[in-house]
Amino acid sequence: MKKISSQFYKKRTPIVAMSYKNYLNKPEEVGLLVEEIILGLKESKTEFMECFLFPSMGTIETVARFCKGSNLGFGAQNIAPQKNGAYTGEFSIESLIALGGRYVELGHFERKTLFFETNQQIKEKIHLTLSESMIPVLCIGETIKCEGQMLEEILMEQLKELLSEINEEKVVNVILAYEPGWAIGQAKPASIAHIHRSHTCIRRCCERLFTKEIAEHIRIIYGGSVSLTEVSEIVDHQEVDGVFVGRFGHEVNQFLEIIQRVSQMKEE
Ligand code: 13P
Repeated sequence: MKKISSQFYKKRTPIVAMSYKNYLNKPEEVGLLVEEIILGLKESKTEFMECFLFPSMGTIETVARFCKGSNLGFGAQNIAPQKNGAYTGEFSIESLIALGGRYVELGHFERKTLFFETNQQIKEKIHLTLSESMIPVLCIGETIKCEGQMLEEILMEQLKELLSEINEEKVVNVILAYEPGWAIGQAKPASIAHIHRSHTCIRRCCERLFTKEIAEHIRIIYGGSVSLTEVSEIVDHQEVDGVFVGRFGHEVNQFLEIIQRVSQMKEE
């Protein structure tokens, strides 16, 4: 398959991220999977990419142990809005930092629909994450399938609300995950055309919110039923900087192959 050549695309490090959500929760089992992923990464020529994992909360410590000194990063699927304090049942960014994690997933569709997380709460968490020099992986996207102007308005509204108070220096560290709610947990991802159009639209919204230069630095990845079948086509676009994998990455070989496909498409 052809490689993309874009002046701007080359500046952005491609990403393959994966969330285990609450599917894989036993530290020992997850440790073995992570060990295999790290071994696979060592043997692949993918050093130019950024690969990271969001394990379920109870397995973070184990994952941190395996990831130490490797090419695989990790993060938390959620954090409390403040570093510490009376937030019973939440996970503190202090723990993540102490464990050597770098990424914080925020605003996932499941957090919003199952736990009623609001934009205000997400915003606080983005600010905390950036103030601690960590990387927010901010999920955005429409819940009901739509296109064109309506989609652009929804995406712009979300971006404006969540990012507009962040200064330009910091906002370039945010990774945007375009995850349309209707495409999560399905047999197939959104159509390739829809993904490419939406990513172009998100980039355009970032330009309007910030500057063209800032927008060109922000990485935008796609998530929602990503599998080996479509991954090459998904990333075959200059505005798609990688993928956010869910269920179809549980099998280590599949995940490694997804990384391989992305690396082939985005090779420098
Ligand atoms: P699935 O690939 O299982 O649909 O999950 C995607 C996702 O929500 C990643 O954050």
